[in-house]
Amino acid sequence: MEFGYWTSLIRLLLLCKAAQSAFIPDGVYYTDCHDRFFMIAVNLSFAGQEPYFEAVDETGVFPITEQYAAQCGYTAGILTVPGLVELRASYFSCHTTNHNDQIFTFNFNLIVTHNEERVSYALNKTCSPSLPWSPREVTCEVNYLEVSVKSDVFCPLALKPDIWNSYMQTVYDSATPGWQVVLVKEGKGMKPLNLSEARLYGYTFTVTENRLVARAAYGQPHSSRSEIDGISLEVLHAIMFSRQEWHVLLVDLVAPCTMYEAPYDGSGYMTWETPFTLYTGLHTTNFSFGLDGKLWEPDVARDMGYSVTSDGTVKVGVPYDADGAYRKSVVTEDLFDLYTCHFYMEQMATSDGGAETRTRTFRTLSSLIRRLLLTENRTVPHEEMFTVYLGNVPGDLELVAIQLNEEKFEAPFVNSSSYALDFTVMPNHTYGYTLTVPFDDPLVIKRFSAEHGAEVNELNIVYSVMIKPKRGPFSYHTTVTALRGIPPPQFDASCSESGITFKLDHEPSNVLWEFTVGSEPLTPELAAQQGYILSNNNQTLQLEVPLFTHGYKYENITLKGFLGTFETRVRNRQTSEVLSSSVKTCPFTAKEIIVCSKDGRMTIVADFSEVAAYEGAIVKTSLLDKYCGPIDADDSKALFSFPLNSCGTRVTFNKGSMTYQNAILYSINSSTPIGSFFVQCTYPLTALSQLFSKFAFDSETAGVGHLWRPLPSVFHRVHPDFSPQSPP
Ligand SMILES: *[C@@H]1O[C@H](CO)[C@@H](O)[C@H](O)[C@H]1NC(C)=O
Ligand SMILES: *[C@@H]1O[C@H](CO)[C@@H](O)[C@H](O)[C@H]1NC(C)=O
Ligand SMILES: *[C@@H]1O[C@H](CO)[C@@H](O)[C@H](O)[C@H]1NC(C)=O
Ligand SMILES: *[C@@H]1O[C@H](CO)[C@@H](O)[C@H](O)[C@H]1NC(C)=O
Ligand SMILES: *[C@@H]1O[C@H](CO)[C@@H](O)[C@H](O)[C@H]1NC(C)=O
Ligand SMILES: *[C@@H]1O[C@H](CO)[C@@H](O)[C@H](O)[C@H]1NC(C)=O
Ligand SMILES: *[C@@H]1O[C@H](CO)[C@@H](O)[C@H](O)[C@H]1NC(C)=O
Ligand SMILES: *[C@@H]1O[C@H](CO)[C@@H](O)[C@H](O)[C@H]1NC(C)=O
Ligand SMILES: *[C@@H]1O[C@H](CO)[C@@H](O)[C@H](O)[C@H]1NC(C)=O
Ligand SMILES: *[C@@H]1O[C@H](CO)[C@@H](O)[C@H](O)[C@H]1NC(C)=O
Repeated sequence: MEFGYWTSLIRLLLLCKAAQSAFIPDGVYYTDCHDRFFMIAVNLSFAGQEPYFEAVDETGVFPITEQYAAQCGYTAGILTVPGLVELRASYFSCHTTNHNDQIFTFNFNLIVTHNEERVSYALNKTCSPSLPWSPREVTCEVNYLEVSVKSDVFCPLALKPDIWNSYMQTVYDSATPGWQVVLVKEGKGMKPLNLSEARLYGYTFTVTENRLVARAAYGQPHSSRSEIDGISLEVLHAIMFSRQEWHVLLVDLVAPCTMYEAPYDGSGYMTWETPFTLYTGLHTTNFSFGLDGKLWEPDVARDMGYSVTSDGTVKVGVPYDADGAYRKSVVTEDLFDLYTCHFYMEQMATSDGGAETRTRTFRTLSSLIRRLLLTENRTVPHEEMFTVYLGNVPGDLELVAIQLNEEKFEAPFVNSSSYALDFTVMPNHTYGYTLTVPFDDPLVIKRFSAEHGAEVNELNIVYSVMIKPKRGPFSYHTTVTALRGIPPPQFDASCSESGITFKLDHEPSNVLWEFTVGSEPLTPELAAQQGYILSNNNQTLQLEVPLFTHGYKYENITLKGFLGTFETRVRNRQTSEVLSSSVKTCPFTAKEIIVCSKDGRMTIVADFSEVAAYEGAIVKTSLLDKYCGPIDADDSKALFSFPLNSCGTRVTFNKGSMTYQNAILYSINSSTPIGSFFVQCTYPLTALSQLFSKFAFDSETAGVGHLWRPLPSVFHRVHPDFSPQSPP
């Protein structure tokens, strides 16, 4: 029974004003004749959330409120199938028209609210149950117990003879011929009441054509509790009697109902347990049970997956996935599955005399088990993003928010640069959400792990789910991390007039790297040896490389200037694998330059301004081979570029090196050269291993160039047979 049903019903009744009557559309309600009750089900999508019923007979219209329902044989507001609200009315309910206990007609109004307006539909149902009435019938409904007895049956009395005798006295003393009742609790009877008085106490007694009926809500003051085989029962016991003209009719009405409360044992079953025999002195013949008003023999139920044991007590386990069992989510401090079913049971018993007692019990069984959501780390490191799966989310839960580290995103989820959310429905009606977040997103927490030599990316996820429509939310946390290789750093390089400066900020991850110039690790020793300026404070590593120091490459040499390129490299400290390099090219101007390339070319810019100032304007320049002139020249400079094996170059071997020498001859006033600059390129022999096997010049390193001239005061005339000289 839904508590909400009754509170909303009371509210509606308070608002009560005359409702209009209308024709009901087809297909929005169903009626059914069961063995012992009318069943009416109304589709909630038609009836709205707050429908209610009124019973109607020739004496009036009676709203079926909670208390009235229990006293008069109605059970309303049960949500058996989701989306349907059900009303059950006993065939002996107060306002049912009864023809000879054979044909029953129930007139009722269904009241729904459409667009804030209450609409009443007058409906009726007539049933003739095919199952004959047993001499004694007990119904243990969810909200009341009811017993009916054939009025000419002689049931064994459950009272001691001496108590009994005192009632006989009362009966004979009573003046009225109408029916009277005595409510009996724990063997003691209270004073006799007529039927209208009993009604005021909350008990309904009815006399039909052939039967006497008693009914009461559970927990009435005159009901008693007892126990059989450790199972609690509530017992309604009344004696009805009537003094006819010359005899007394006296009927004992006893209705025991099992009040078993299942423990939440997480066994996978919703359980029900009842004593095998509800009446002492009777023999139970058989029992059957089912869901939603259906009854099956135990063997049939077993085949359907039910567990059934009958060993002193009858114990039935309804599997969670039984047809007619429903699940819904419940959030308390944790997330639970609440399984519910509407259980129905019949127990048959006979007395020695063969009189049958049929007991039918309705119970709502439920079981609560913790729901575990599934989170799965489906991150594939090389995809550079987190992939996290949240699964096993029941269909009645809604994901309303996702918190990713410090940032919260709320539904509706729209894919963004930060995340994408994908959604799948599993065959078992659970949902799965796949969340992807790029490692690079600013909300991902990053830190360096020296242990792994890698960057740790961390994502703390809090999923907030809510039960539809709006209950919760419940939060579900998970944390995923992924290691990610750290990209090698890049130096910041800048040009100055005198060289190139490389800078690198210190990072914890820098312990992974080794910085080199060519293949030489960049150490203070190397810097000192090569004339680099290395400074290393706690924030930055700085390397200044003056022009013409070891490691430069020169290109695009013109009279005006040239390009100088320097490269630093980052190696893996462990494997020495080169991971990146920072290459910087800067434009420079210099008065003179001599470059000895690896492919065997000497390139020179020679400056004659001093010579010209001393001796007069230069008219012509050439190399030793007078046909090798400059590529370009102006008043003071000349640019030569020639292969080492040409233009009269001479070769000398020294210790461990090979030197190529030539001279730039110049003439003043006449075409005869009057002076010279000496130029030479020296290559270490170790770099020239290819020289003798290959046709073309090929050095592993650039040569060291040198250009010099005699002091102006000792300028001398050039002899035709030039002989090499050592530089000063
Ligand atoms: C209730 O009515 C709606 C709309 O007519 C229908 O889709 C739904 O299936 C019905 N529900 C039940 C339980 O019959
Ligand atoms: C019962 O309802 C039907 C329509 O469903 C109607 O024709 C009939 O008159 C009603 N009977 C009574 C007794 O109200
Ligand atoms: C029942 O008893 C009360 C008082 O005891 C009396 O007023 C009432 O008339 C009786 N009703 C019937 C139907 O006998
Ligand atoms: C159970 O008992 C009822 C009444 O005695 C009888 O009609 C029915 O056949 C019995 N069922 C079985 C399986 O014995
Ligand atoms: C539903 O199916 C999914 C995927 O097959 C599975 O992970 C999950 O545990 C299942 N949930 C239930 C309640 O059966
Ligand atoms: C979000 O991205 C996922 C995966 O890339 C995709 O399957 C889904 O359709 C996208 N959703 C929206 C609303 O664009
Ligand atoms: C998640 O997956 C990644 C990639 O497979 C893995 O590196 C990481 O250790 C996993 N575990 C957690 C808890 O994030
Ligand atoms: C880093 O150097 C600066 C000055 O260059 C100094 O103020 C600071 O305290 C130093 N920090 C550490 C952690 O040594
Ligand atoms: C260097 O010269 C080459 C051709 O000789 C030219 O393609 C290149 O662009 C020049 N580089 C620069 C930086 O000027
Ligand atoms: C070149 O000619 C100028 C005058 O024309 C003369 O003064 C100078 O001495 C000459 N230089 C040489 C090296 O002959």
